[in-house]
Amino acid sequence: MAGGLPSGVVDQPFDAQFLKGPVWRLIDPQAAAAAVTAAKVFGVQLIVARLDPVQDLSPFGFRRVETLVTYEGALDPQTAELEGVRRGEPSDAGACADIAVQVFTHDRWHADPQIPNAAADAFKRAWVENDVRGRADTVLIAEGAGGGVDGFVLALERERTAIVDLIAVSPRAQGRGVGRRLLRALAAECGQRRRFGRAGTQETNLAAARLYESAGWRVADRQIGWHWTPEG
Ligand SMILES: CC(C)(COP(=O)(O)OP(=O)(O)OC[C@H]1O[C@@H](n2cnc3c(N)ncnc32)[C@H](O)[C@@H]1OP(=O)(O)O)[C@@H](O)C(=O)NCCC(=O)NCCS
Repeated sequence: MAGGLPSGVVDQPFDAQFLKGPVWRLIDPQAAAAAVTAAKVFGVQLIVARLDPVQDLSPFGFRRVETLVTYEGALDPQTAELEGVRRGEPSDAGACADIAVQVFTHDRWHADPQIPNAAADAFKRAWVENDVRGRADTVLIAEGAGGGVDGFVLALERERTAIVDLIAVSPRAQGRGVGRRLLRALAAECGQRRRFGRAGTQETNLAAARLYESAGWRVADRQIGWHWTPEG
């Protein structure tokens, strides 16, 4: 056990803040049985794994909680700057987090009945706030009437790719092209330095799938998300 953890898992201290004990990520499916045995000793509250569809963790007490679909597409460097979208400021964190807790319902924390909704909301809120306050490389805000926030896209820039970490539009502004506008703004902002856009979403999230398809992005990968929790 390197660093007190069994091999094949890594600690997830950020996630653990929202549950009543450690959270681990299983990176080696061969280590699943040993990880579960150790998790019971360590009081682990959640083990998460994202694996190719051929892998089956159900014999070890894991539950399938999502199918994560990854979309990829080119970012057009010629995209013009767009009206109504501006760069975010740390002071936007609260407004973005307020939207997040209203609209994120498909993610694996909310989809898992063993995770309390309050914990899933707190997790998403903190994730958005961290991103807006500096973790994300790109923060873009769709401005609503009166200067409010209608939506946001938060992206991590890695090598040739801008990865959509989170994108959301407030309930009152959904279905009016704000999401599409945010993705075009992402191309305008990052297209000169990153060639591709990438985003992961749950297969059940039809609106997100349509949004990425509409930007010309296509499915590049599919993974199954698994959770092990002490209550099973
Ligand atoms: C996904 C989301 C950002 C889309 O934003 P939006 O402003 O509502 O989307 P748009 O109005 O720009 O529409 C984009 C495309 O999605 C389609 N769409 C939008 N809402 C839809 C819905 N509820 N069901 C099916 N399709 C939908 C639109 O018809 C459009 O497709 P088209 O270009 O082929 O006509 C928004 O629904 C949202 O905030 N969802 C909750 C958060 C989320 O799941 N984020 C993605 C995962 S990180």
